[in-house]
Amino acid sequence: MKRPSARTKSSDYLQSMRLWTNFFAASGAEYEAIVSHYDHQNREVLDIGCGNGRLAIKLSEKARAVTGIDLDEKLIDFASTYAESNGIGNLVFKTMSATELKFESNSFDLVIMPWMVHMLKDRATALAEVKRVLRPGGQLIIFGLWGDCDYDRIARHFVSRREQEIDPKSCYEEPLTEIFGAFECNPLPTDQSYSFIFPDCGVTVEAFNFAFKNWYGKTMNEKEINHLRHLLPTYGLGTHIELKTKGAIYLCTKQKASNLEQIELHIGDNNDRHTTARQNNG
Ligand SMILES: C[S@@+](CC[C@H](N)C(=O)[O-])C[C@H]1O[C@@H](n2cnc3c(N)ncnc32)[C@H](O)[C@@H]1O
Repeated sequence: MKRPSARTKSSDYLQSMRLWTNFFAASGAEYEAIVSHYDHQNREVLDIGCGNGRLAIKLSEKARAVTGIDLDEKLIDFASTYAESNGIGNLVFKTMSATELKFESNSFDLVIMPWMVHMLKDRATALAEVKRVLRPGGQLIIFGLWGDCDYDRIARHFVSRREQEIDPKSCYEEPLTEIFGAFECNPLPTDQSYSFIFPDCGVTVEAFNFAFKNWYGKTMNEKEINHLRHLLPTYGLGTHIELKTKGAIYLCTKQKASNLEQIELHIGDNNDRHTTARQNNG
């Protein structure tokens, strides 16, 4: 199986998307965080909101099978072409919504949702879907973006929808408690491994222009672009523009049925069988 280190396909759209994803190389900080919490060797993995597939591709090296889904067809096309042209047979990508998973129940051992839960309108439905498709004992790992990181502060200047900070309680904690009952939360280190680092102001302006247009349908005018150009150096680190990201890793396990539930299920099964037998006899 050939796994080139650099991607081979390019377009303006993908180039722009990469401005936001290159900073976490596929073998980067998130992958290390995932493997430190869950051994995915020979497991079946689902990556929800997989973007250009960077984490799904990395996870497919050890997993039995990996499926990446995203609403964005262009990213799914790119990721699918990459997997096919590189002969990665245990990796598939599908255009699909997190709130309507087209998979059988109990299909995956590990589900990851990296940096996407804050984009969901109906988080409880998406998490209920995750719980359904996880096998008993299966693991959910969420990389949750929190409010008040540099990205949010800048976005709030230009996009009214971002006026509200992301509130970890309503965005992650309440829906996770509602659907999974319990969760573990480990704040991510705020060092540069979870930061966006752009080579210069021009590239950062380009990245924000793309993000606002693509993610929020907002086109910046010349005045706003100049405003952004003046704002960015205040976040600078030497010749680079560094934008700190704040977030946490959330972990949930789909509980296996308790012994008592298993006994009840078993008795239920037997009763059904007796009823069926009586009906057949009678
Ligand atoms: C910030 S990007 C993160 C991409 C990728 N997880 C990564 O870490 O590189 C969020 C992604 O979630 C996707 N997304 C947003 N809402 C979605 C939904 N309802 N169902 C599936 N994907 C969704 C977006 O299209 C986008 O690719």
